[in-house]
Amino acid sequence: MTAPNIETIVSLAKRRGFVFPASEIYGGLGSSWDYGSLGVELANNIKRSWWRWLVHERDDIEGLDSSIIQNRLVWQYSGHEATFSDPLVDCRACKGRFRLDKLQDVNCPKDPAHHAGSGKDCDLTEPREFNLMFRTTVGAISSDEDESALAYLRPETAQGIFINFKNVLDTSRRKLPFGIAQIGKAFRNEVTPGNFIFRTREFEQMEMEYFCRPEDAPRIHQEFIDGFLEWFDSLGISRENLKLYEQTKEELAHYAERTVDILYRFFPERDDEEKQFDELMGIANRTDFDLKTHSKKPEDREGKRLNSDSTDDLSYFDPQTNERFYPYVIEPAVGVNRTLLAVLMDAYTEKTNEKGEVRVILKLKPELAPIKVAVLPLAKNKPEIVALAKQLKKDLLPLMRTVYDDTGGIGKLYARQDEIGTPFCVTVDHESLEDNSVTVRDRDTWEQERINISELKKYLQERLSR
Ligand code: GAP
Repeated sequence: MTAPNIETIVSLAKRRGFVFPASEIYGGLGSSWDYGSLGVELANNIKRSWWRWLVHERDDIEGLDSSIIQNRLVWQYSGHEATFSDPLVDCRACKGRFRLDKLQDVNCPKDPAHHAGSGKDCDLTEPREFNLMFRTTVGAISSDEDESALAYLRPETAQGIFINFKNVLDTSRRKLPFGIAQIGKAFRNEVTPGNFIFRTREFEQMEMEYFCRPEDAPRIHQEFIDGFLEWFDSLGISRENLKLYEQTKEELAHYAERTVDILYRFFPERDDEEKQFDELMGIANRTDFDLKTHSKKPEDREGKRLNSDSTDDLSYFDPQTNERFYPYVIEPAVGVNRTLLAVLMDAYTEKTNEKGEVRVILKLKPELAPIKVAVLPLAKNKPEIVALAKQLKKDLLPLMRTVYDDTGGIGKLYARQDEIGTPFCVTVDHESLEDNSVTVRDRDTWEQERINISELKKYLQERLSR
């Protein structure tokens, strides 16, 4: 079972402290969200899994953390200043503002039975291009009108990687093929953000740029498509909720030769199966566009430099073939927030207890669970039980994130831990003081086992690594 819709996750996320609306006490700020104590742990675990899989487990990928604000020229030469825009239309009747290519996704505010633009009073203006980059100014003397101080918040982490290509190449002494990975915030002034954390103006990306010889690019592209399907599987996302989508020529970004999106079933409630899916990530063959465009060397047919501002050349010299060329780039780009949403939706399960009450269980993979073990005292007014429970929490903590909780009756505590995805509860009772054993309860089966405290660490470690 998965969540029936995003709203179910919104309410669970708010109720249990995964995600809150941002600026809520001031009425919110259109589609901005804050991550609470459990949300930040889950997001960190997703990022850690991605980083470990790509940067640590492979031998051909370096990490990077570049600045959010870069020289404006980065965005001029990347093409973002000229082309990173969406077609915008206004409705003269309802004063709504919509993305022309996403009218199908929004209902007309005045006539909710119809899509925006197709209601009976809808009166749309001609489309105009709206650049999605957030503008800011840099420096103490700058004014908003001072063009020389204009800068942007990065709309993708990728460019920070391209402009550091030579730094990484020279310092790591890499040979092709190799990759550079980065996790960080990106900002887009989206015309129609929405669907909870699916589309927001501030979000986090995990991007990896893999540099290779042009002739190897198609094969490597396919390897990363297959690899990411496996990574999502390792996060507990079922294959039946994922779909591959080959972008059409019209949809391809200006830099891409081929892009395959991995879609997730974010909208299972929709009747039309095709409309249930939307983009989780994109895997693009960006060709040699980026390294070339940021290099001082390449010239047009008349011999004029394509980039008159760059001070360096980002080509690569292959000592084996004695060739100098601009490597091709394969780019798997995935959103942290969308992955988190997909993970929550896929983990969401309901189960009926013996009293006929419906309980929520978040069947998160142990690797992703914000809390791995909760230690619960059966009687919080008995000092010996409380002391033993607190000692167990302390002993387990260096190995696995463990919490102590005595804020309710045992049934309530179990239900709470099930709902936030804690794989195991350890209960200390009166007998524990006699037999040196505790009860370990499994989140998914609700089965309980009596385990000797001397065996507890080993037992939990083994169960958590399955
Ligand atoms: N460097 C390539 C690039 O940025 P993209 O498809 O625009 O490609 C990559 O973005 C991923 O970033 C998307 O697949 C999605 O997971 C995430 N993403 C993009 N825009 C987003 C937004 N407004 N809100 C949340 N996530 C977003």
